[in-house]
Amino acid sequence: MDRLVIPAVFDMHQHLRQGADAVYFLKWVDRVCDVALVMPNTVVGHGLEGPITTAERLNQYRTLLERAVPDRKAHLVWTLYLTEETTPEMIRAAAAAGATGYKIYPRGETTNSDQGIREAVLRDLRHPFWRAIEEIQNVGGVVNHHGEIPGADVYDAERKYCSVIDAVCREYPKLRQVVEHVTTADMVQNIREWREEDRPIAGTITAHHLCLTLNDVVGQTHNFCKPVAKGTKDRDALISAATGWSDGFFFGSDAAPHHRTKKVSNEFQPACAGCWTTPVMVQLVAQVFDKLNCLDRLPRFLRTNAKTFYNIQGEPSRTLTLERKPWWNTYRSGYVPFWFDKLLDWRVAELDEIPNFHTGPNRPTMEV
Ligand code: DOR
Ligand code: ZN
Repeated sequence: MDRLVIPAVFDMHQHLRQGADAVYFLKWVDRVCDVALVMPNTVVGHGLEGPITTAERLNQYRTLLERAVPDRKAHLVWTLYLTEETTPEMIRAAAAAGATGYKIYPRGETTNSDQGIREAVLRDLRHPFWRAIEEIQNVGGVVNHHGEIPGADVYDAERKYCSVIDAVCREYPKLRQVVEHVTTADMVQNIREWREEDRPIAGTITAHHLCLTLNDVVGQTHNFCKPVAKGTKDRDALISAATGWSDGFFFGSDAAPHHRTKKVSNEFQPACAGCWTTPVMVQLVAQVFDKLNCLDRLPRFLRTNAKTFYNIQGEPSRTLTLERKPWWNTYRSGYVPFWFDKLLDWRVAELDEIPNFHTGPNRPTMEV
């Protein structure tokens, strides 16, 4: 198969940031997505007072983004950032303001997670924080886990988080949960088992975790994100989850742009975690599915599994045309896209007008 038409994508994990940059990121999302779940770890500035921890901030953020690209086709779905101070009343207010997802950031584990939840609270289901979780179950919301134990060794942090989710599954059997950006074979297996026990749980998988192992991350800052990519067996488990027949895995890019000056570490700063995949995510996923000869299952992973889990109505607003055509991603901006200066096998025809997406088997000469 050299040409394939698929419906526009559901990306169930996007960082759109704020200010002028958000306009830019949202325009990129709008080129390929019908739906994007917007992450709440925003910072102070550009009309916001910090992360989206209240219904009021959610309303402010929505107004900012909706004004940013008024003619967009992509539908934005909203999340609330949970803190240890989030109350059941705040959950009801957020639900009334249109929140669908409620994000648990273990404190200190990733970008802007310092108002997140400490491990001791994650493990103590009698802490008042859990009344908020119970309310999320009552309002029919979804808890989105950044599934890593803070301070654990990076290769163990996700595996150790499985016991947190296990306890939540037992305490709140009807609570809808998504384990975001799954990176380990252990978590894939656990999600399968929880689903066999009829827990309404699913996992998102990113494009970059389908392509990387830890070997690709060491010393390569544009491949560095949280959770970090793990070993080959883990990556293979992700590939089989994404390409398999389970409804329990769907796409969430975790596209997380940081300016190129923030992606480098030096004597004054560590590198920020995050891969900005939006310009190449569909092409990369197509490449992975193509290798396993299952391009026909691409719409399940990129759209329908998420549509069913989140119960999002509506027909595709448009289609994307994928063509087998080698091209070099040399698209340049202040934000270096993932897979920069690397060859891809699949191209999205609708992105053909974007400058610097070079079709052809030879690496283009670059002006720096
Ligand atoms: O790599 C990451 N970057 N992981 C996250 O969980 C957050 C994200 C960001 O916001 O930069
Ligand atoms: Zn994220």
